[in-house]
Amino acid sequence: MLHTPADEVDARVVGSHAERVTAGVAELNAAAAAGDQGAFRLQQLLLSRIYNLTMRIPDQPTAEGSVLVNGVLTALERATIAAEDAKVDWAAVEAAPSDPAAYLSWLKKSARGHRVFKHPYYTDFIRHHATADDLRKYVIQESVVDGRFDDLLALMQVGTAGASKMEIASNFWDEMGNGKPDEVHTTLFNQLYEVFDITEQELEDSLTATALLSGNLAVLLCRYRRFYPEAVGFLGMTEWLVPDRFVQVVSAWERLGLPDVGIVYHRLHITVDSQHAAGWFHNIVLPSAGSAYMRRGIARGTLWRLNSSARYLDERIGEVADLAPAH
Ligand SMILES: [Fe+2]
Ligand SMILES: [Fe+2]
Repeated sequence: MLHTPADEVDARVVGSHAERVTAGVAELNAAAAAGDQGAFRLQQLLLSRIYNLTMRIPDQPTAEGSVLVNGVLTALERATIAAEDAKVDWAAVEAAPSDPAAYLSWLKKSARGHRVFKHPYYTDFIRHHATADDLRKYVIQESVVDGRFDDLLALMQVGTAGASKMEIASNFWDEMGNGKPDEVHTTLFNQLYEVFDITEQELEDSLTATALLSGNLAVLLCRYRRFYPEAVGFLGMTEWLVPDRFVQVVSAWERLGLPDVGIVYHRLHITVDSQHAAGWFHNIVLPSAGSAYMRRGIARGTLWRLNSSARYLDERIGEVADLAPAH
């Protein structure tokens, strides 16, 4: 249906047919909320497919703009937002300091105290035990954020001004390899697909529910102006967590003696993302943190990132727990 032109979808799916679609999505959301893992994956897969209508340039007609599809999208988004908000420690958010510098310290302290920080998936499994096949699987799951970070920045910068816009622009220009096509970050990331011979189809087939969720949350927060504060928190925290994690990935890559071309992306981001995080905090978070509205949203986006990343890494380590030697 997503490859049928929008007006045809809306002309064809009417009356009781349309009601069945709406009811089906409501059931799917209810099952996912009740903990049905199959329903949760389907919910996130459907959401990612609808998002792809606005994230990719198609080579055939699509249902982008269909009233029916927009209705389904909104229902999926609301369910996803409610699930993430239910995991936020709101008392901690309300208690965040209002002074911008103290607020930023509080954000970093919350991240350092979170179980996702120095998660054993990276510090133990990736560093000491991961095989080449494990790294291959890891790369597939990471593709939903790393594979399109430039587009996320492009989406979130709409409507910004001054120091924030400049910061996003310079971050984006880094993503563009500072004008050198060979150094564009998504190009460097794609070199990993070549090393591991990963196809588009395999990508979607292998994406787990929590990996799909990570990608969907990033798109959700970056594409809507009402979520701008959340996007600042979500992407800022994403950048901030990278260097520590990628040190472990590079170490595994070297331990396994894999081709150097595949690790350029990770090696580069150990330095670049610590600069990106510092710039982001200084030029976007600090100047925005005078506003209570921004502080609340940035904290919410930050916690969404920390919580969802923790669940994602728990899932990854759960898959390999029997394989990693005990020690
Ligand atoms: Fe990058
Ligand atoms: Fe970055």
